[in-house]
Amino acid sequence: MATSTPPRTIATVAGAGGQGSEVYDQAVDPDRSTIEQAKIIARRAEDARIDALFTADLLRFGAQGPIGNQEPLIFMAALAGITSRIGLIATVTSTFHHPFNLARLFGTLDHVSNGRAAWNLVTSSIGEENYGVPLPSPEERYARAAEVLDVANALWDSWRPGALRRGDHGRAVLDPDLVEPIDHRGRFFTVAGPLNIPPLPQGRPVIFQAGQSEAGVELGARYAEAVFTSLPTLDHARAYTTMIRSRAAQLGRPGGLPLIFSSLHATYGATEAEALRQVREREEAFDLDRGRERLIDMLGGGVDLTGIGLDERVPESIIPDLTSINGRRGRVEIFADYIRQGRTLRELIIAAQDTGHWAVAGTPEQIADAIEERFRAGVLDVISVGNLADDTQHDFVVNGLLPDLRRRGLVRPDYAGPTLRDNLGLPAPTTPPEPVAGQARTAFESILTEPTSGRTSA
Ligand SMILES: Cc1cc2nc3c(=O)[nH]c(=O)nc-3n(C[C@H](O)[C@H](O)[C@H](O)COP(=O)(O)O)c2cc1C
Repeated sequence: MATSTPPRTIATVAGAGGQGSEVYDQAVDPDRSTIEQAKIIARRAEDARIDALFTADLLRFGAQGPIGNQEPLIFMAALAGITSRIGLIATVTSTFHHPFNLARLFGTLDHVSNGRAAWNLVTSSIGEENYGVPLPSPEERYARAAEVLDVANALWDSWRPGALRRGDHGRAVLDPDLVEPIDHRGRFFTVAGPLNIPPLPQGRPVIFQAGQSEAGVELGARYAEAVFTSLPTLDHARAYTTMIRSRAAQLGRPGGLPLIFSSLHATYGATEAEALRQVREREEAFDLDRGRERLIDMLGGGVDLTGIGLDERVPESIIPDLTSINGRRGRVEIFADYIRQGRTLRELIIAAQDTGHWAVAGTPEQIADAIEERFRAGVLDVISVGNLADDTQHDFVVNGLLPDLRRRGLVRPDYAGPTLRDNLGLPAPTTPPEPVAGQARTAFESILTEPTSGRTSA
């Protein structure tokens, strides 16, 4: 029988974090968690056949509103119980947790959701004061992240095929000889294993990664099945996709991996004029002093903007040396690019509101055009569609954007299968590529020992 490959399509994602935002604040009882709101989003998203829910994570008290920032894995486990098809992507840092715990937590999420778990691995640039340690350098954080994934992958694989089988009367029978210790001894961890939970429905959770500096690209190219990105322009998306995919191909990974997941800040309007009016009103309303602080943060925290007029070009001389940045180098690179393009201080402050993410304003059809352009350019595989807690946005997404993308054949009409892997069109997990004649390991070793170059990564 002839087989045919299904056409490549875009997977869709809805944000369902435990973060208090202005929208949540209006609708949520301040004494409670945001789970009621997230449940509304989850049900709406599953009804609309959106492929996955996503949470970001912030490890510090701050600008997340009165409801705070609740823990993504617990949040996703709660949502697993009220959904049955939608994927659950939880952002969790590798910097402050132990890989044995992480492997169990994500393994259990995959079990309780019947194969819908994904880990968005971040290395975090904040929150160290809550863990009693100084923030490790980016090189150190990424080296640790690589070892965390090596350990977690080995643990998920520690029950060999056939270790657990169905015996007489439907009882599970365990062959302990097929459950093997991992005996990991590395730079950061010593882990005996094996994992103390059975093989995961998906084998391993789907691995996402976010972090776009040079070391972040190296980690994503090697381990990630999808990368969560802020790519504000088509040029940024092209440069980043080419870079990470060519590195992944050098490492022997199959074409098309990792998938590119772009967050999209969409402003929807019934007409283009209405969408642009909303953008203008937002820009006119915002506090430029707070905006300045945010821009300083986007540039790594140490720049001085005093004396630069709002409508003056920001001089290139303020661009910091990337190697001096201990936080998000990838985002500093995006804002450094904007400065090189000659943007004024006001334009940069406005751009900082989208924190380097892709922002589009227009009718659902125009937003679908922008998505299609990136998809056809081969730089987009997974897209976030908007805030489904907001009734107006929900209406635009469910009755405007999604039907339009489906009419164009860009988004599947229904789930492709029971697991997130099925819905992202991902193959069964494989062991990350072994070093080619020592080359791959040394890439990480060199990141550890040499300062990164000033290359523009995004
Ligand atoms: C699109 C994107 C989203 C991110 N989301 C988070 C997050 O939710 N929580 C977090 O701790 N770090 C997050 N990070 C940050 C990075 O994992 C982390 O700060 C890293 O150390 C620096 O990133 P870099 O490689 O871009 O310099 C995100 C990074 C990117 C690019």
